[in-house]
This record gives sequence, structure tokens and C-alpha cells, in this order.
Amino acid sequence: MAEVLGLGLTHYPMLAGADTHMANLLKGTLRDPDIPEQEKDPGGWPAIMRQEWGDDQGTRAAAEHRRELRSGLDRVREELDAFNPDVLVVWGDDQYENFREEIIPSFCVLAYDDTEVEPFGVLNKLKVPNVWGLPDETTFTMQGSPVFARKIVSDLIASGIDVAYSYEQRKGINFPHAFGNTQVFLDYENVGKKFPYPMVPISVNCYGEHVIARKGGMARFAEITKGEQLDPPGPTPRRCFQLGQAVGRAIRESDKRVALVASSSWSHAFLNDKAWHLRPDTEADRRLYDAMVAGDYAAWTAVTTKEVVAAGQHEMLNWFCLLGAVQELGLDLSWSTFVETGIFNSNKCFAVFQESASS
Ligand SMILES: [Fe+2]
Repeated sequence: MAEVLGLGLTHYPMLAGADTHMANLLKGTLRDPDIPEQEKDPGGWPAIMRQEWGDDQGTRAAAEHRRELRSGLDRVREELDAFNPDVLVVWGDDQYENFREEIIPSFCVLAYDDTEVEPFGVLNKLKVPNVWGLPDETTFTMQGSPVFARKIVSDLIASGIDVAYSYEQRKGINFPHAFGNTQVFLDYENVGKKFPYPMVPISVNCYGEHVIARKGGMARFAEITKGEQLDPPGPTPRRCFQLGQAVGRAIRESDKRVALVASSSWSHAFLNDKAWHLRPDTEADRRLYDAMVAGDYAAWTAVTTKEVVAAGQHEMLNWFCLLGAVQELGLDLSWSTFVETGIFNSNKCFAVFQESASS
């Protein structure tokens, strides 16, 4: 009989960069000529944004944001080590990385062998130095678990969920950062060294109607207002929840100790069109956070794709998968925290779900 731990964390790329660059996504947005000047004026921003922006464009606040994120990551890593899993199963998004115009699977299990991963691909593209002072081309090994991955795929298909699977990553890309950063951030003190646990990544098409249209998420308003050619939607939140339930059932039948992980921040400023990409939709995030803490999964499965997209919560589909598994396996939320920010692109959430003492 399997034993299971559930975890949620962020893969926020700017956490791997120096404090002076932590607000770079907002700084880039402020250079968008099609955003009205009065929206860009810090004088009109909500209090949390003004406070974080300060007189140094967020550098001091970045140190505090990093401290909060590291504290969440440390807690998650402690729980992971105490549980000592055989394998991590991680839900993460693919931002025009492994999957592009040739094919966009709603869900794809990456049944890879050990893979060399370049963790600083996103930072290199943004010309941001990494906070560890490591060479740009640093790599680490992500241990795979291809046999177990194939078993999960087989069980999912047998249960009526026709997931895709992949045995080889796309050539010439940086490994999808949702998974790469999961390992980097869980091992923040030892980047580039051997991480003790293998990983089965499950790609979720979180970006849906924007996956090709915005090639990884960030778009200028000129492109949006001239009329985007939207892609078909991603899987619905409810379907993600069902996938999580099915993964939960597949895991339950195994004899492994499995850590199920949702890897992503919550609402993203650069996807929150209604706020001019300046800040995340904190109200929408708070609503779902409160429902998660209350164990009110019906509130989660009632969320529509339209609502997710309107709130810039695209990547939260990873969390819908996790919560489906949590519900299916009867795990209890034992600890969580919500890290709110105005200027650092996205609110972040950390969570630990454990088997209840009685089960
Ligand atoms: Fe992401």
C-alpha cells in the first residue's frame, strides 16, 4: 500500500536571480508603451505595491520576499525529507518549452530517464544573473523514474483519462522551468549537486488559449488589443481535479512512497489583463486559498476556465490537479502559507498535505 505526501510550492524564476532583478517583470511591463501613464504611476498603486516599490524599485522588498519564499521552501523540504519519498510526481506548466506548434497535449507524463537540466534558461533569456553566482550554463541531473511513469500512464488510460506521454524531451530547449526550478528551489542550498529523489513530471497545458498566442505568457498590450489569435482552451479546472483524482487512485495501488507536488505560483500579473499586467489578482487568489484551508473543494471544482484566465491564474491548474489527488486520497492540510505581493509578479502559496493520523 502506498504512502503519500502532498506539497505545493512556487517555481518563480526571479527567485533564482539577484534581489536587484526581482521586480524585473514589472519593470518590463512599465516599459509597455500601450499601458496608460496614470496606471504606471506608483502614486496610484495599491498600498502593498507602493510599500514594496519604495525608493529603490523593490530591491529591499526583494530580500524580504526571498526570505518568505525560502522559509516556505525550507518547510516543504523538511517535510519531504521527513517523509523520505521513493519518487516525486510533479504537476507543472509548459511555457512554450517542450511543447510548441507541433503539439500541445492537455496532460503529458514525462517518462524520462535521468536528464541533464539547465536551470538558468529563463534567467539567461532575461539576462539576469543567478543568485548563486554559478556559470550560466550550469547543469544538474534530474533523476527520472520512467518505469513508474509508464505505470501511471497505463493506469490513467485504463481509468478513462487518455493522457499523453513522452520518452524524450524536445531537442535544443531548456528543460521546462516548472520542473527544473522545483528541484532547484527544493535544493536551494545545493544547486547543481545531487538531489536525492527522482521525479515524474506531468505537464499540464495551463496556458490554454495563450499557450501559442503569447509564447510563454508575456505579451505587449499592442499585440493583445490588435486582436490575438487565441488557441483552444486548456483542460478545465474540473478536469484537472479529475486527473488528480485518477493519479491519486493509481498511486494508491502502488507500493511506493510518493510525494505529489503542485509547482506554480498563483495569479500572475503578466496574465492579469484587467490590471494592465501590473499586479496579480489577489482577491481571486484569497478566495481559493480560503476555500483550500477550509477543505471546500466544491468551491474549487466550481471554478471555470474563463474565471481562471480572467484572474491570470492559468498556472493554478497544477494546484487543481494536486487538490484532486488530495481529495481522492483523503489527505489533510497540515500546514500552508500565502505570500502576498504587489510588485513581484505573482502571489505564492506553500502547502503540506498529509495522511490523517487515523488512516
Ligand atoms: Fe510557470
